[in-house]
Amino acid sequence: MAPRKIIIDTDPGQDDAVAILLALASPDEIDLLGITAVAGNVPLALTEKNARIVCELAGKPETRVFAGHDAPIMRKLVTAEHVHGKTGLDGPTLPAPTMPLQDQHGVDFIIETLRAEPKGTVTLCPLGPLTNIAVALQRAPDIAERIEEIVLMGGAYFEVGNITPAAEFNIYVDPEAAKVVFDCGAPITVMPLDVTHKALVTPARNDAFRNLGTPVGVAVAEMTDFFERFDKEKYGSAGAPLHDPCVTAYLIQPGLFTGRHINVEIETQSELTLGMTVADWWGVTDRPANATFMGDIDAEGFFTLLTDRLARL
Ligand code: BDR
Ligand code: CA
Repeated sequence: MAPRKIIIDTDPGQDDAVAILLALASPDEIDLLGITAVAGNVPLALTEKNARIVCELAGKPETRVFAGHDAPIMRKLVTAEHVHGKTGLDGPTLPAPTMPLQDQHGVDFIIETLRAEPKGTVTLCPLGPLTNIAVALQRAPDIAERIEEIVLMGGAYFEVGNITPAAEFNIYVDPEAAKVVFDCGAPITVMPLDVTHKALVTPARNDAFRNLGTPVGVAVAEMTDFFERFDKEKYGSAGAPLHDPCVTAYLIQPGLFTGRHINVEIETQSELTLGMTVADWWGVTDRPANATFMGDIDAEGFFTLLTDRLARL
């Protein structure tokens, strides 16, 4: 089968970085048309730079990286340096990128690509706040029916929230954008915290990355070493959750994940629950299903895939 054409929309972030590395390591399954950066974990100037650092780490400086929006549609940007460090990519020491940032705006690239490629052949993979994707859909509503699938990391149901008691970070930062995306009519697959909190980098799994002995393996181990201190303190968990790589792993091996096709609505009004993904997991409303909301992961299989693929870079 031909590899799936994708655009990764991202705010790197150590876990975004691993998601990108997994995609770049898997050319038989994934044809990465471009990366669009968005403000999220850290401001845009850092996320676009970090995306280029990661492409160079992978030995793929020809990857096209575009800058998108530097703030949510109508709110002040909330960042997460408390999780990812000052640079967003704290942990390893990596050289400043020399590959260029593309001149085109990330949103223009998304619109142009979806219009240029045959209908239903491009998958969008948002790993951060949904600003760029929502603005693209608002400016060019015709692209919605051209999208093959949107596979995103965001939201939570049983795990509720990580940035507020009720909301997950990516959705909370730009809830209006999330609403546009969940209402757009394209097929959506969601990797919520319910799944990603089971994708934990235990010490043995991190040793497996480090023992690859390659610049990529060592850098990934150092990233998760840094990232992990936060979740260990907060949740008492065994290690760092690799949220965003669940998206790219799904494209390669969808059988690692199970979920339900359900209705998911985004709370945009309530101060208390702003950005909550109200997921009708139990089917208690007759609201129409608009997303496949994942609930479980084969974590062993996920880490085997990840380690095998990172070894290829
Ligand atoms: C999400 O927020 C970010 O901190 C991570 O990169 C991930 O995309 C998890 O809530
Ligand atoms: Ca992210």
